[in-house]
Amino acid sequence: MLSNLNTNKHTKILCSYNDFMEEKLLVYGGRKLHGSVKVDGAKNAFLPIMAGCVLCDGEIELENFVHLLDIENMREILKTLNIKTHSNDRQLYIDTREIQNAKITHERTQKVRASIFLLGPLLARFKRAVIAYPGGCNIGSRPIDLHLGAFKTLGAKVLERHGYIFCDGTNLKAGNVIFDFPSVGATESVMMCACLLEGETVLKNVAKEPEIVDLQNFLNAMGAHVSGAGEDEIRVVGVKKMHGGNFHVMPDRIVAGTYLLATAICGGDIVVDGAILKDNESLVSFLKQTACQIEVFDDKIRLKADQRLCAIPKIETRPFPFFPTDLQSQMMVLQAVSSGVCLLQENVFENRFAVASELKKMGADIVVKDRTALVRGVEKLYGADVFASDLRAGASLVLAGLKAEGYATVHNVHYIDRGYEKIEERYKLLGADIKRIKIE
Ligand code: EPZ
Repeated sequence: MLSNLNTNKHTKILCSYNDFMEEKLLVYGGRKLHGSVKVDGAKNAFLPIMAGCVLCDGEIELENFVHLLDIENMREILKTLNIKTHSNDRQLYIDTREIQNAKITHERTQKVRASIFLLGPLLARFKRAVIAYPGGCNIGSRPIDLHLGAFKTLGAKVLERHGYIFCDGTNLKAGNVIFDFPSVGATESVMMCACLLEGETVLKNVAKEPEIVDLQNFLNAMGAHVSGAGEDEIRVVGVKKMHGGNFHVMPDRIVAGTYLLATAICGGDIVVDGAILKDNESLVSFLKQTACQIEVFDDKIRLKADQRLCAIPKIETRPFPFFPTDLQSQMMVLQAVSSGVCLLQENVFENRFAVASELKKMGADIVVKDRTALVRGVEKLYGADVFASDLRAGASLVLAGLKAEGYATVHNVHYIDRGYEKIEERYKLLGADIKRIKIE
């Protein structure tokens, strides 16, 4: 790796000789999007559910499977626990009958933040876990104090040394946990741990994301007794054993929201099959303010946009059910080409405006200060060489390229592949001029 060029707080451009070996997306902008697209399974539901399989003794079939880098990395981690997995196009099969506890090394955990979700299930199943600190995107420090604090509250002993977390769960007992912040991952990890703790565990100030409800439904399908996900309190009554079975994972609300924002940005008329209103209520409400035409059905949403849209004066990201941080970069692109000014506030992560400096290379007018971005809409964006610095920033640069005049080249495509399956093929089906180029 040549270096991390840290030009300013919000911009970290990873330049490496690998860049010439890596893939890029070449996007020719100016086309409207038309047609219908189906949303695959949710990355942020699959990852905790795959961790939850550690609790189960048996064979598990997960439907609505999606081929993503983060999920493949999670499969590699399960393999180190002697858990067998195989997949076909849209099913993932997991066999935990020969599971063995093992240290999860940083080679694995650095590749996927969700590796930390394994802590709870390992503690519950084996009363002991050794796991290296998790990696993740460049969107913030990504601490795990809320995870570790909750396990200590329930009686675990935790030692952090040499980049590893050593947990002794011998004295783990059901009890009450109140989170200082409604952390998605901490809610999921502790909820899973409680499934095998005798007695009732009550979690308060929990995250309410739809993926947590999906996780609850999965755990109960495997024999657990979890209730309250999506509300203020989650209650878990521990069971002695959990079994295998099959489960259909929810569609990806962030991928669905990305399609809707792409069409609002480029113009056109699309139907997103698998876009569920209750999972994207905040986004739909904002889009209706911009003069998009939106039609909502049970399991799909149609969006038509045939003019330059008006800006939304103020948008803040907050935990569900408010506007999701995972759509913030994509929304920034829409505001960058809308008529008017938008004050965008990122309240969840401390460093999630990296995409702004890349959008400015394309002609956007954005001023960032700490967790606030002032976005003045411009008539046109222009193609340029731009660099993804995290998963959602990468997807947003594709959306900007779809709108821009001329060619845009999006580098660091591996970030995008973490959360979007074959993004170029999906958008090509909607009429976009986009291709993946491999630089030998
Ligand atoms: C999950 O990350 C998602 N990842 C993220 O999606 C998503 O952005 C995030 O939730 C918020 O919705 C997965 O589900 C795999 P958090 P997670 O714990 O669990 C702080 C994507 O693009 N915090 O809710 O890591 C933390 O620093 C990814 O798909 C602590 O301080 O998010 C952050 O500021 C990106 N201590 C805030 O809470 C902790 O112990 C929210 O983090 C844990 C978190």
